[in-house]
Amino acid sequence: MQRPEWAPESIDIERPSVARMYDYYLGGSHNFAVDRAAAQAMITAVPEAPLMAQANRAFMRRAVRFLAARGVRQFLDIGSGIPTVGNVHEIAQHEMPDARVAYVDIDPVAVAHAREILAGNAQTVIIQADLRTPEEIVKHPEVRELLDFSQPIAVLIVAVTHFIPDEDDPAGLIARIRDALAPGSYLVLSQASGEGRTEEEAAETFAVYRRADNLVRARPREMLLPYFDGFTLLDPGLVWVPLWRPDPTDNTEDADRVVFIGGVGSLGE
Ligand SMILES: C[S@@+](CC[C@H](N)C(=O)[O-])C[C@H]1O[C@@H](n2cnc3c(N)ncnc32)[C@H](O)[C@@H]1O
Repeated sequence: MQRPEWAPESIDIERPSVARMYDYYLGGSHNFAVDRAAAQAMITAVPEAPLMAQANRAFMRRAVRFLAARGVRQFLDIGSGIPTVGNVHEIAQHEMPDARVAYVDIDPVAVAHAREILAGNAQTVIIQADLRTPEEIVKHPEVRELLDFSQPIAVLIVAVTHFIPDEDDPAGLIARIRDALAPGSYLVLSQASGEGRTEEEAAETFAVYRRADNLVRARPREMLLPYFDGFTLLDPGLVWVPLWRPDPTDNTEDADRVVFIGGVGSLGE
């Protein structure tokens, strides 16, 4: 397969990538044949897959608008993915022109695309880093140059923690990020949940990801609560993402079909 001009040599274009499959679900153009094949296999097994990605993105956009309306001007988006249409800085800067957004992703493809898309926007930055080494993120010189950690920051970890195994202690990783934040900060988080499904059904839903570069660990709501330790969960709590402060025209029927549970927590205002 021919390597597109923007794709750095370091990325494997013969192996499906979670970020590029997600981009495909969202209608983006930053994906390869191998990603489309894996995503199509997912769609055959789980026809709702694109709906899940779209509902999750819509949750993120509502949360960013909500926080911008509360005066948050700084965003740290970890596991940001490929910034296709309606990404965090577009939403945040639409509400607050001086909003600053630091993007972080482990995937060099997502990072390469983000660099292209963000070029010329001095209020954004993208770094390649791993949520499993949180200090590298919160102490990263480019992140520190853009974001003032003495002021509130909204940390977004949207549709990422299901890629972190229990052994890596996702709640502990998030706590290490929380400890770097000022009062008045927020956590916006969603992840895949097998809630309401049998273990076999949940395993089947995400089986195709085994062929991609990551396994999905669907977790029930009670396993997500420790992620918000130290934060106060805002209404309506941890819910199927379409039910989190829906817009008046949103369709919230069958919200559990989207499989993602999410919420927003506030850090001791
Ligand atoms: C399903 S996408 C979600 C993208 C975006 N947050 C959204 O909700 O639209 C998951 C992203 O998390 C990234 N990711 C997975 N594991 C990660 C880790 N350990 N550290 C940072 N990013 C990670 C993947 O590369 C991918 O871009």
